Amino acid sequence: MTQTPIHDAVRDHYAERARKADPCCGADSASACCDTKNVLYPDELLAAVPDDVASFSLGCGDPITLAALQPGQTVLDLGSGGGLDCFLAGKKVGPAGHVIGVDMTPEMLEKARANAARMGVTNVEFRHGYLEALPVDDNSVDVTISNCVINLSPDKPKVFREVFRVLKPGGRLAVSDIVTDGPLPDVIKQSLSLWAGCVAGAVDAQDYVAMMEAAGFTDIVITPTFFDKETVDEAVKEVGDKIDLRSVSQDELYKTVFSARISARKPE
Ligand SMILES: C[S@@+](CC[C@H](N)C(=O)[O-])C[C@H]1O[C@@H](n2cnc3c(N)ncnc32)[C@H](O)[C@@H]1O
Repeated sequence: MTQTPIHDAVRDHYAERARKADPCCGADSASACCDTKNVLYPDELLAAVPDDVASFSLGCGDPITLAALQPGQTVLDLGSGGGLDCFLAGKKVGPAGHVIGVDMTPEMLEKARANAARMGVTNVEFRHGYLEALPVDDNSVDVTISNCVINLSPDKPKVFREVFRVLKPGGRLAVSDIVTDGPLPDVIKQSLSLWAGCVAGAVDAQDYVAMMEAAGFTDIVITPTFFDKETVDEAVKEVGDKIDLRSVSQDELYKTVFSARISARKPE
């Protein structure tokens, strides 16, 4: 697995997030934030985990409801962060099921494993690895979930091929992610900081579908959920004066970048 400067920038960014326990974005966001209520999921779902686990969320949606998990299933979470979606999935699949969270950032794995130990969870494990080279057996997973991570990969076609490899025939992909409606300005796409902030790596929804189709997926559905103004604001704020964004209209970005629910299936 060849690591790129994008992997390094993204890992540094999320290592810092894990160390600070200060996820994502600004106050009263549509995205979830550690010191504000996590509004991405129904309250009854979040009631299953401690408050600090529920609020340590860097996601942009609710892949758990989309995934409609069943007892006994094996679930893979791409970019598991602090582990929230893994713990919620673990409740759904129950003791006969199994959840694997994969993440490349050691600080995130440490945090997720500490949360699992504290909660006494036994059907969830966290593995170090990359979306582009998943440490998971072929044809072994019923449902792959992910929350705001695939946009961060520098090689999305490889990610979809890897997800296809590990899914059982008939297995499903159910993710929340950031995509775009139209191209992003070059100055945005070239910023590693904006990439780590879930903006620069986002691709057009049509290209996202084409990549999934090329990997072999069928029944692909992309449903826009909300324009992700907060993610744009946060990412632009973090850039500061590192790059000159004067040529970029923030209003145009607000209209281009959105969160979506994405589902697909590996044929039988
Ligand atoms: C935006 S956070 C989302 C975390 C979690 N899914 C959530 O909803 O809170 C992105 C996570 O994905 C991980 N990540 C990003 N790119 C990755 C890659 N190519 N391979 C493995 N992990 C990756 C980061 O380390 C980070 O923990």
